[in-house]
Amino acid sequence: MGSSSAPTLALDNIGLLATCDASRGEGPLGVVRDAALVVADGRVVEIAAAGADADQRLDLGGRCALPGFVDSHTHLVFAGDRSDEFAARMAGAPYAAGGIRTSVAATNAASEELLRELTEARRREGLRAGITHVEIKSGYGLTVDGEERLCRLAAELTDDVTFLGAHVLPVEYADRADEYVGLVCGEMLDACRPHVRWIDVFCERGAFDPDQSRAVLEAGRDAGLGLRIHAAQLEPGLGVQLAVELDAASVDHCTYLTDSDIDALAGSRTVATFLPATDFATRQPYPDARRVIEAGGAVALATNTNPGSSYTTSMSFCIALAVRDLRMTVQEAVLAATAGGARALRRDDIGRLSPGCRADVVVLDAPSPAHLAYRPGVPLIAATIVGGVVAHSDPALIKFG
Ligand code: NIG
Repeated sequence: MGSSSAPTLALDNIGLLATCDASRGEGPLGVVRDAALVVADGRVVEIAAAGADADQRLDLGGRCALPGFVDSHTHLVFAGDRSDEFAARMAGAPYAAGGIRTSVAATNAASEELLRELTEARRREGLRAGITHVEIKSGYGLTVDGEERLCRLAAELTDDVTFLGAHVLPVEYADRADEYVGLVCGEMLDACRPHVRWIDVFCERGAFDPDQSRAVLEAGRDAGLGLRIHAAQLEPGLGVQLAVELDAASVDHCTYLTDSDIDALAGSRTVATFLPATDFATRQPYPDARRVIEAGGAVALATNTNPGSSYTTSMSFCIALAVRDLRMTVQEAVLAATAGGARALRRDDIGRLSPGCRADVVVLDAPSPAHLAYRPGVPLIAATIVGGVVAHSDPALIKFG
């Protein structure tokens, strides 16, 4: 039993536990076989042998368990549907930043109740997909009240909320970009600040240029927020180097990286977050993850759930793409979706299963995490446990309680 005086729960009979902490077991995933994870007060207190003593016991039936996925890039709060845009893309149309405005119109027309309902449903979908922690961005409001509403709704579901007022220029500001950037850095930031931990900007052709992006990020930093950037999604640009210069926690997309981008990332604390479902759904090339990893850069994988470029909550699908198309090893991809995501959010309480960490666990109906890539498209998530509490389980596979 652990040292805590709170009642203990053993997640018992784990055939293969991938702790995602190399110091706790074999190989890069820190694997422990025939294990039990002892939990108290929602935290891991001990990694023990199967059959460990505890006040309560959940039998995982010899399955594989790993840390819950940390999805460090999502846009979950929106209304409307852009499946026509997706179909047109599959018929040859390119992806463009301007499509965001379609979702802005639908989102601003939706009631708060509807938006809450839609966002909660997407979060439940993520839990079924093994996502135990999520970052959520605003960005489909683009007015002071609209952005404040999205940040507030997101804060009902996570403590990693990101203010993305600089997602795209609203039509009414078409010839007044600097005025809009002023609004984002002033009144809009002030209104969103109480609900958020992060600020983000879409630094890309058709969205915000590097000077405007810098202004937004510096305003966020001055307001005490952590920094994140969308960059190099559609073409190479200066966004990655800006991210590193400002010590952003993460630069996301990284589909087009230059040699200098890779050098900059390698010598920095900024995580390169790959969003391979986006490259899939926009028919873009896949990023050169190998070069970043081999240069020593830190990497993460995230779903980028959003209505335009990546309408999926499946981290398993992202892992399968990362292994096949970004040429990451299975271990690298699993680490990127767990510990990597935590690092991209500058958190050390999630993304691995070590004593003291939140007891966020995914149970696979499979013998090892390799099956996430080996069996693409197969729903392998048998259960999702958040803070020691079962948030989702497939009753046909595991009977709890
Ligand atoms: O991360 N690139 C910018 N933002 C989202 C896409 C948003 C949209 O098309 O609605 C992304 O891919």
